[in-house]
Amino acid sequence: MAKTIQAIRGMNDILPGQSPAWQYVEGVIRKVAAQYSYQEIRMPVLESTELFKRSIGEVTDIVEKEMYTFDDRNGDSLTLRPEGTASCVRAGNEHGLLYNQTPRLWYMGPMFRHERPQKGRYRQFHQFGIEAFGMDGPEIDAEVILLSARLWQEFGIAEQLELQINSLASNEARGRYRDALRDYLRQHEEALDEDSKRRLDSNVLRILDSKSPETQALLVDAPRLSDYWDEESRAHFEGLTERLAAAGVKCVLNEKLVRGLDYYNRTVFEWVTTELGAQGTVCAGGRYDGLVEQLGGKATPAVGFAMGIERLVLLLESQDRIPSVTAVDLYLMAGDERAELKLPAVAEKVRDKHPGLKVMLHSGTQNLKKKLMKADKSGATYALIVDCDVNGRLEYQYKHLRKRDEDKNFTDLAELAGLLD
Ligand code: HAM
Repeated sequence: MAKTIQAIRGMNDILPGQSPAWQYVEGVIRKVAAQYSYQEIRMPVLESTELFKRSIGEVTDIVEKEMYTFDDRNGDSLTLRPEGTASCVRAGNEHGLLYNQTPRLWYMGPMFRHERPQKGRYRQFHQFGIEAFGMDGPEIDAEVILLSARLWQEFGIAEQLELQINSLASNEARGRYRDALRDYLRQHEEALDEDSKRRLDSNVLRILDSKSPETQALLVDAPRLSDYWDEESRAHFEGLTERLAAAGVKCVLNEKLVRGLDYYNRTVFEWVTTELGAQGTVCAGGRYDGLVEQLGGKATPAVGFAMGIERLVLLLESQDRIPSVTAVDLYLMAGDERAELKLPAVAEKVRDKHPGLKVMLHSGTQNLKKKLMKADKSGATYALIVDCDVNGRLEYQYKHLRKRDEDKNFTDLAELAGLLD
């Protein structure tokens, strides 16, 4: 036998048994995005490598070691998108969507990062992201956070998620803080873990994220970012937290929240759960007022977030929050050979009259007992057996195979009996 070929490590098939959960999640997301008047944008999965280097930052984990980058046949360096914000800004600039306009956009699709796969962390994963451009007040930060909070409400998982929030302040203020933090950590350099030593020069803020207990112990007495906030960023932060409080959304200040992408300023936030082990960040984002200009557009403030759909599905599963759906409502079979010929026509008639019904047609010429066994295996709620009487007229016989969910398309047998009237 020929050797079978396997999927690439960290890249998953979403199998038929899982796709109803995904369709449910995607449906709720589309509905909520529309409730906030956000419009969908679809970007290519491949972009020029330069785009991600210039936006995410050269010395970030993503750009340094996680991108799927290759030269195409023309020798151009291309990268499978590791996230959607950079592509969204690129598209916005390219098509003039951002100029004197305030588009509110959303996207959904696969992203690629060469990380070590584990539960909740994959090499191909999916994000739902939103990006709002051209508005610099805290009300739009509040809006994107409230949109995410509404999703948790809709999914029934609000209790499982905590909103952590911070301000990275202005570039100048953050620069002053960076110097102060570096000065402090230099005095204790020998106690730092290897990664943090390396980051001292290249990306000192990421040391705040270090997993090393020794480094974390050092950080207890380190300078605090909020002591370096500029007045405008402080006012922006307070404007945001007041609006969230007024809307009944709780948040906690996490001064060590700095995010792994370089484009952020002011507001950053993450929705975190303790239900998923190490990969507990379900949704993350913030403000990136400099990025549009940095990528060649006119200076345009922006804010957005992305959530990991795999993590969201895992969380929903862990909380038993995925509504069950029946794969088949009605399984159609012929009782005799003459009815066999008319069966596809009967099925079409049923589909015409009841477009919401999931109809499965039996294929093959087994005896009736075997057909009924197949019907049962399909998970169908009803089996419909079609026979021909001596005059060639069709006769129908129903079998109720299992109890169905309340939200099915027909409510009782009487209604089902009327299917073909
Ligand atoms: P991010 O924090 O890199 O931000 O990713 C956002 C979310 O995507 C994470 O919180 C997580 O749920 C999910 N995610 C990331 N990497 C993986 C992975 N390897 N496997 C599974 N899920 C993953 C961004 O991507 C920014 N573009 C967010 C943003 C939009 N900021 C402003 N606008």
